[in-house]
Amino acid sequence: MIAVDGFSSCGKSTFAKEIAARLGYIFIDTGAMYRAVTLCGLRAGVVSARGIDREGLVALLDRIDISFRFNSERGASDIYVNGECVEREIRSIEVSGCVSAVSSVAEVRSRLVALQQQMGKNKGIVMDGRDIGTVVFPDAELKIFMTADPMVRARRRYDELRAKGEEISMEEVEENIRSRDIADQTRAISPLRKAEDAVVLDNSRMTVADQMEWVLERLRKMGVCE
Ligand code: DC
Repeated sequence: MIAVDGFSSCGKSTFAKEIAARLGYIFIDTGAMYRAVTLCGLRAGVVSARGIDREGLVALLDRIDISFRFNSERGASDIYVNGECVEREIRSIEVSGCVSAVSSVAEVRSRLVALQQQMGKNKGIVMDGRDIGTVVFPDAELKIFMTADPMVRARRRYDELRAKGEEISMEEVEENIRSRDIADQTRAISPLRKAEDAVVLDNSRMTVADQMEWVLERLRKMGVCE
């Protein structure tokens, strides 16, 4: 079990996906699960930029069935809600603006954590998120805590969104990252923090290849790969 936690837009998913491909493990993006619940909340009118109808959101949870299906074209899994692929919709700035609030609701967290533990019970998993090494799999064999300069993260996220055709300014992206950093670190339940036994990876000035070299060295020492 490899846990990859860290700040927003650090490239956790890209990195975790690469590790999984290299080892033949399954990659699970838990941020996508919080985003999927947020999307459902927005569609049902119980989540908006003005706030959350907490009771309505909790009632909705029983009607949300989340699953992942491998997409061979992308070489990664797409997320589905009640049979609908929402991989694209969950990455919008509207969802990004509300997901921190949704992910601070206790019932949302307990539901998704239970699902993540179920998905990871047979191991051979690389899971990325905020609380994987601290709450979901505190016994993970390798825990990585990722960080990068906020300006570097904003630039990466901006480029990604613009490439997808989103009309957004650099200022909006910076503000979104800043507010999510604060919300993720200060929420009452399972705040983002480094597990004591996690190794820190600051990738501000590293390519994906550099990061792979860094992790493969560790995995070799652990006897997980050659
Ligand atoms: O990794 P991401 O940016 O797609 O995550 C979206 C949001 O979900 C993020 O603002 C915090 C929340 N999240 C969380 O609270 N716990 C996780 N394990 C993963 C994500």
